[in-house]
Amino acid sequence: MKILVTGCEGMLGRAVTGRLAVAHQVRGVDLADGDLAAPAAARRVVLADPPDWIINCAAWTAVDAAEEKQDEAMAANAAVPGNLAVLCDELGCGLTQISTDYVFAGTGDGFDEDAPRDPVNHYGLTKARGEEAVEAMNAPWQIVRTSWLFGDGPSNFVRTIAGLLRDRPVLQVVNDQRGNPTYTEDLAAILEHLVTGRHRGIFHGTNHGSCTWYDFAREVALRMGHDPDRIEPCGSSRYPRPAARPACSVLRSRRLEATGYGPRPAWQDAVARYCELLQTGRARFPLD
Ligand SMILES: NC(=O)c1ccc[n+]([C@@H]2O[C@H](COP(=O)([O-])OP(=O)(O)OC[C@H]3O[C@@H](n4cnc5c(N)ncnc54)[C@H](OP(=O)(O)O)[C@@H]3O)[C@@H](O)[C@H]2O)c1
Repeated sequence: MKILVTGCEGMLGRAVTGRLAVAHQVRGVDLADGDLAAPAAARRVVLADPPDWIINCAAWTAVDAAEEKQDEAMAANAAVPGNLAVLCDELGCGLTQISTDYVFAGTGDGFDEDAPRDPVNHYGLTKARGEEAVEAMNAPWQIVRTSWLFGDGPSNFVRTIAGLLRDRPVLQVVNDQRGNPTYTEDLAAILEHLVTGRHRGIFHGTNHGSCTWYDFAREVALRMGHDPDRIEPCGSSRYPRPAARPACSVLRSRRLEATGYGPRPAWQDAVARYCELLQTGRARFPLD
């Protein structure tokens, strides 16, 4: 397939581009190629070499900063997929929109694909608007929600915890938010399956299993060769943030499983693989 990956310099975009380029004709673009929130720039970028399918990894992902920079976040997360949707309809090209667990309020014990969107922060609202723009398309579309993403990049939870463990004897990490940690490499494999199968609709794409940030940090400590008891649990009130977080944003992936995909690697296995990358000096973004 001829696939255009937007946001190709981002954490997920790099993993997706790398994986799909093995068997497909892949073109990656990022902000330097044009601001896709501007209709004319989006048109120029896409029509430069019209693809069969677009995977939109471009986004505003700074959850707290979105509360202040509301218009910029809305442009990246809603106008970009809206512009791509128009172009895909014109070309008869498929579109995969990457979305988030933060479109849900986080009350309850988990979310099916058709649960109603009810975001608790502005980032979640912008991503929900992006989903709505894609759902209105006539051409084939997929919305793939993921959560708690980590992978080879300059900024993610695993790398942050691994770095802090070198500097501080004890870390307090919140134990009252639950979600599904997801490795970009494992999500890239899910996306290849969904795109090449030309599946349609909303899917949840995460590693298998759920945990709290505290559990997640303990696993990082263990895999990086530190004593996990150096991680202590605390409540979210310990670290007040500009943006509210859902208490439980666990995503259930029944629709993905119904396409025949699986079994998905457990999140602990994914953390082990990324930590090995960090420890063996093979990461493009090693520990500082
Ligand atoms: N990170 C997570 O924990 C997480 C969790 C759930 C869902 N997601 C979703 O997963 C997807 C990928 O996230 P990520 O962490 O890989 O993001 P990322 O590392 O922040 O990468 C996003 C890329 O998109 C580019 N971009 C931003 N606005 C653009 C625009 N208007 N036009 C063109 N390019 C633009 C960014 O460029 P600049 O860097 O130059 O701005 C960046 O290279 C997003 O849809 C995100 O909402 C992420």
